[in-house]
Amino acid sequence: ETVYILNGPNLNLLGVREPEIYGAATLDEIAGGLEDKAKALDLDIEVRQSNHEGHLIDWMHEAQAEGAKAVILNAGALTHTSLALYDAIRGIGLPVIEVHLSNPHARETYRHKSYVGMAATGTISGFGPLSYELALDAAAKL
Ligand code: DQA
Repeated sequence: ETVYILNGPNLNLLGVREPEIYGAATLDEIAGGLEDKAKALDLDIEVRQSNHEGHLIDWMHEAQAEGAKAVILNAGALTHTSLALYDAIRGIGLPVIEVHLSNPHARETYRHKSYVGMAATGTISGFGPLSYELALDAAAKL
């Protein structure tokens, strides 16, 4: 079974981007840790990143078409703006786990609203790279 792990805008800059908020690990390093964890859980993972909203939507549709077990989604700032992602989550009918490295609720008020969270199965945020690992644990048990 495959879990899609989709990452949105600016997450290609992890490791460089505001490390005091997002940590020192790059997305490749996080993905490497997730590969190990996925093996232990007997899951396949498909880790992708795009700065383009439409790519994320196409990949969600692909996840459904491929019969994925679940989608783990860190939509970056699109979390707080994208009705199209909200519709995609509702539309594909797969379990979707929203993740964030930081805890948006402890940050600026404009990060408190989440279109992704309004449609997701659940949300894990604030644990840095561990947020993804916890989400993979959750996906395995769904
Ligand atoms: C983020 C939180 C968002 O508010 C922000 O726009 C990001 C990263 C996180 O993982 O903490 O790009 O999704």
